[in-house]
Amino acid sequence: MLRTHLCADLNENDIGKQVSLCGWCNTYRDHGGVVFIDLRDKSGLIQLVCDPATPAYNIASNVRDEYVLIAKGKIRARGEGLENPKLKTGKIEVVLDELIIENKSLTPPIFVGNDSVNEDLRLKYRYLDLRSKKSFEVFKMRSDIAIAIRNTLAKMDFLEVETPILSKTTPEGARDYLVPSRVHDGEFFALPQSPQLFKQLLMVGGFDRYFQIARCFRDEDLRADRQPEFTQIDIEMSFCTQEDVIEVTEKLLKNIFATVSKDIQIPFKRMKYNEAMESYGSDKPDLRFSMPLIEVSDLFEDSSNEIFSSIAKDKIKNRFKALKVKGGDNIFTRKSLGEAEEFVRKFGAKGLAYIQCKEDGLKGPLVKFISEKNMEILLQRLGIENGDIIFFGAGEKKIVWDYMGRLRIKIAQDMKIIDEDKFEFLWVVDFPMFERTEGKVSALHHPFTMPKNLDKEDIEEIESIAYDIVLNGIELGGGSIRIHKEEIQEKIFDILNIDKKVAEDKFGFLLEALSYGAPPHGGIAIGLDRLVMLLSKAFSIRDVIAFPKTQKASCLLTNAPSKVNEEQLRELHIRLRNPNKNQN
Ligand code: AMO
Repeated sequence: MLRTHLCADLNENDIGKQVSLCGWCNTYRDHGGVVFIDLRDKSGLIQLVCDPATPAYNIASNVRDEYVLIAKGKIRARGEGLENPKLKTGKIEVVLDELIIENKSLTPPIFVGNDSVNEDLRLKYRYLDLRSKKSFEVFKMRSDIAIAIRNTLAKMDFLEVETPILSKTTPEGARDYLVPSRVHDGEFFALPQSPQLFKQLLMVGGFDRYFQIARCFRDEDLRADRQPEFTQIDIEMSFCTQEDVIEVTEKLLKNIFATVSKDIQIPFKRMKYNEAMESYGSDKPDLRFSMPLIEVSDLFEDSSNEIFSSIAKDKIKNRFKALKVKGGDNIFTRKSLGEAEEFVRKFGAKGLAYIQCKEDGLKGPLVKFISEKNMEILLQRLGIENGDIIFFGAGEKKIVWDYMGRLRIKIAQDMKIIDEDKFEFLWVVDFPMFERTEGKVSALHHPFTMPKNLDKEDIEEIESIAYDIVLNGIELGGGSIRIHKEEIQEKIFDILNIDKKVAEDKFGFLLEALSYGAPPHGGIAIGLDRLVMLLSKAFSIRDVIAFPKTQKASCLLTNAPSKVNEEQLRELHIRLRNPNKNQN
């Protein structure tokens, strides 16, 4: 047996025991002849000691960082004053009688466990980065969660089914990753953006309850919580209502959190999409803090400033929102007010008006544009006290929601008023079915979502049976009840201006399946990477994916994507537009 124990499983109770440990040299020190090695395995560190009188000494003195070692010796207590309280095994050490260098290592380009090393370097040498205890703990948590998902859903009668990776375009609306077919000249597979259509087909296939820990691929702009290749906990159920899907999801999340020793309260809060937008400027509000946006257009209709009054009068198109920052006047300096304005301008604001509530009265550019009577109502509506500051956003509603929502979060982050230990869940429900951007109508979720009130004249008033689950201001998952009748599906394609031929070509197989007795069905998909990121308080989604891609969607470890040779291209019937770029 190479190993009797894991390093950090040992403690004072093991003093006197003969052990054999395996791992890597974390650090090496030579103190006047006595060699100290911190040996590391997945459990943590333990100190090895070797003095010159022992035969192991010659070998120990040749050890360097990241050498692979098998260490045999006896556990003893460290001498008085030599204990290391920072280390779990800090009260003991192993006195070596035999040491084997199982493998050498080049000088490592990164120090294992040092997060401050440049991320590109950590990704290039990801296998070294993964050796840290912190990485191991994240992936242990991820593994425990995956097992809890399987156990919980299996108990609820869900069947785990794998769906194809080489497939056809799905309706999530991002750009597809395409795979050329060698066999079919000029034809391509698309990697799935989600298993959406297949899970619906499984319902038509009578499976009743499906789940999959499913890999998805989307070629879209990357952010801190997005990867081109990511994992969903994908769920679909037949003969269900929105309430059934919500109940299953809440039980699942409760069990997942219990797995990592966190108790969460279910059921979660709910908020209509409209309220989320009006009060928080976002369909994924962070409710760990309050600071709602308050509508004040009625108080500016008769403003002496014509721009303000004309914005305030058009209540359908525009919004006039106030954001109170308690105690904010003591924090915002002239410089930081300028920075706040610059921040909102990036998201389409024309400026950022404010009112400062000082001991000696109200100050700020907006004071003179509101009547005395309305000012009083404003102060009361917002519950203003001395020392507060109020920011205003006015203009086209979607733009105002967006920049005021972002400002709300930025201020809360800057003022450090967000409780980072809280897990604040929220269901956002009653999403609109469609949205119109620059005259083009698109589906807010996807075109297979069941509409609620299809008879409304203004299509933007049609709601859908769609729901998102939000955690701490991040969209964790989303789902809907699906259309299971062909005629409703056709009507939705009509409204979306999706040509019959195009619909047939892209989704014909699903439409056909709907005409063979499709049951009512619905489901949800939860982003597993995002969930682990939030639970492990990771800085980025890349920290919870074993081999992630960079912001530029490449893998620094394998150098993918990479060039291919002419013969491979020929086999795939592909000629490059810019062949010079492909020279090896
Ligand atoms: P949706 O597109 O909302 O829904 O995706 C569901 C969840 O998947 C996660 N997610 C991502 N995570 C990391 N990187 C990405 N690029 C990325 N894109 C999405 C998010 C998101 O909430 N088929 C539907 C679900 C359904 O209707 O059942 C779907 O895929 O956490």
